[in-house]
Amino acid sequence: MPVDSNGWTPIAASVDLDGERAVLPVSLGGDRYVLFRDDEGQLGLIGRNCPHRGADLCFGRLEDNGLRCPFHGWHFDRTGQCVEQPAEPEGSKMHTQIKVPMVPVREVDGAIFAQVAPQEVNAND
Ligand code: FES
Repeated sequence: MPVDSNGWTPIAASVDLDGERAVLPVSLGGDRYVLFRDDEGQLGLIGRNCPHRGADLCFGRLEDNGLRCPFHGWHFDRTGQCVEQPAEPEGSKMHTQIKVPMVPVREVDGAIFAQVAPQEVNAND
């Protein structure tokens, strides 16, 4: 995939997230992510494997402004932050310590870009 000097590379078209379920698997440099659009219309590109038992978040439920794991219901927002663990006692703050990897994304003219590691810019280029 082409990467510009700031590290942005195209990963999808905006229309890929049209429809009832705005969830799409994405591979970047051999790592697996899931791209989704939340209730606010914002994009999230987060690690695809749930940190609990490794369930594939591509099969998660898109709800409550994030993505809910299909196995035990841990809920993640677009930054990859876990915001809810249904089986934990009420008032538990354990979820604040749990976060999956997140890659910055932006949407321009119907295309979605992810920011991978910035490339070295050769002054002689
Ligand atoms: S595997 Fe995701 S909440 Fe358990």
